[in-house]
Amino acid sequence: MDEAAPIRDFEKLLRETIGLSMETVGASVIRHALKRRMTACAISDLHAYWAFVTGSPAERQELVDAVIVPETWFFRDREAFGAMVRHLRENRTSERPLKLLSLPCSTGEEPYSIAMALLDAGFPDGSFQIDAIDISTRNLVHAERAIYGKNSFRGADIAFRDRYFAACEGGFRPHDIVRRSVRFRLGNALSAATQPGQETYDVAFCRNLLIYFDRETQGAALTRLRQMLADDGLLLVGPAESGLPPLLGFTSVRFPRAFAFLKAQAARLKPLEPPAARKPRPAPAKAAPSLPALKPAPRPFAQKAAPAPSPAPSPDREAASLAAIERAADAGRLAEVPAAAERHIAEFGPSPDAFYWLGLAHDAADAIEDAIRNYRKALYLAPEHQRALAQLRLLQQRQGDHSGAKALAERLDRLTKRSGT
Ligand SMILES: C[S@@+](CC[C@H](N)C(=O)[O-])C[C@H]1O[C@@H](n2cnc3c(N)ncnc32)[C@H](O)[C@@H]1O
Repeated sequence: MDEAAPIRDFEKLLRETIGLSMETVGASVIRHALKRRMTACAISDLHAYWAFVTGSPAERQELVDAVIVPETWFFRDREAFGAMVRHLRENRTSERPLKLLSLPCSTGEEPYSIAMALLDAGFPDGSFQIDAIDISTRNLVHAERAIYGKNSFRGADIAFRDRYFAACEGGFRPHDIVRRSVRFRLGNALSAATQPGQETYDVAFCRNLLIYFDRETQGAALTRLRQMLADDGLLLVGPAESGLPPLLGFTSVRFPRAFAFLKAQAARLKPLEPPAARKPRPAPAKAAPSLPALKPAPRPFAQKAAPAPSPAPSPDREAASLAAIERAADAGRLAEVPAAAERHIAEFGPSPDAFYWLGLAHDAADAIEDAIRNYRKALYLAPEHQRALAQLRLLQQRQGDHSGAKALAERLDRLTKRSGT
């Protein structure tokens, strides 16, 4: 049987419906998904399955669910939530409820993390509303059910689980106060219908979606996000996506590892400044009552919401050089990263962090082989380099290397357990 023609039809269908780029994710991802769905439908012929899919919206949705990567966890890239809190504190000028967007929200960990970070920071229940949108019905069912196992709680700091979750059969469930601020909805990042009414968002999280798109679709998705954001709105993207918003006129907020961008041009709205350099600014008189004093530790976004945007000055030249590379990556100036990382390695010798940043820059530029090689070098030098493990795992999954991705997931899992979580 000649499979090439129908597979190209499936690729086209998936590109048109969810923006999936075959060049980015690799054809094996689609083949694997097709195999799963054909087995589930007891159809052995690709042409027959094509006829079935094109006649059945329900099966099209099943195929989408089989092909997407739902990978997510609570407080993923934690610094993004600190940047969000700080942005809202500094820019909130009215009493109206804040509007936030999590697109894609996958199984709900991201929007619930947004709610927890805002509650921790003293934003009262009812003062914000989070729209959480995803294209996968299966993920949304999971999100509404809101029962989470250990894979959703990663990293050393999961104290938030004691504050905001109750143990239940099958895992942990967020309290009502967290769940009621999140509104889940089926939607497509590429569709005009995704924008509910005329409302605009103060903050939009669009993380770990654009990496699956080709350049044209990335541009279309970012243009849509621009339309959905308020003029002084903040956009958060994933680490491998930070080179994209500047291409659409977004301005980097220099906030380490937050991958945060303002819609407004730098001239109209200044990026966040280091706390030391900023004059104390009285809270807007009207906003103050709705933002009560921060509660004491251990609420991370109450206490540590605003790490200094520039790393503290260090006498250590090696650390300063790495920090400069990281700042360039955070600001979306990924084109500068390879040369800076190579200079760093030439001067200070092989460094896992330098290889990690090199991997990330190549990843963002779709230089997959180079990205993999550099992530591997980072892991050779530092087998517990969690960010390199996480990025390599995502990349392998996108490439259809599921057994490689699974092995990395197990490594990450073991690390998480060992660090006491
Ligand atoms: C890797 S998860 C990212 C979740 C979360 N933002 C994070 O960073 O942890 C990717 C999600 O994108 C969703 N997705 C893929 N294409 C989409 C599209 N065109 N519109 C909306 N969601 C999409 C998938 O269903 C999946 O849940």
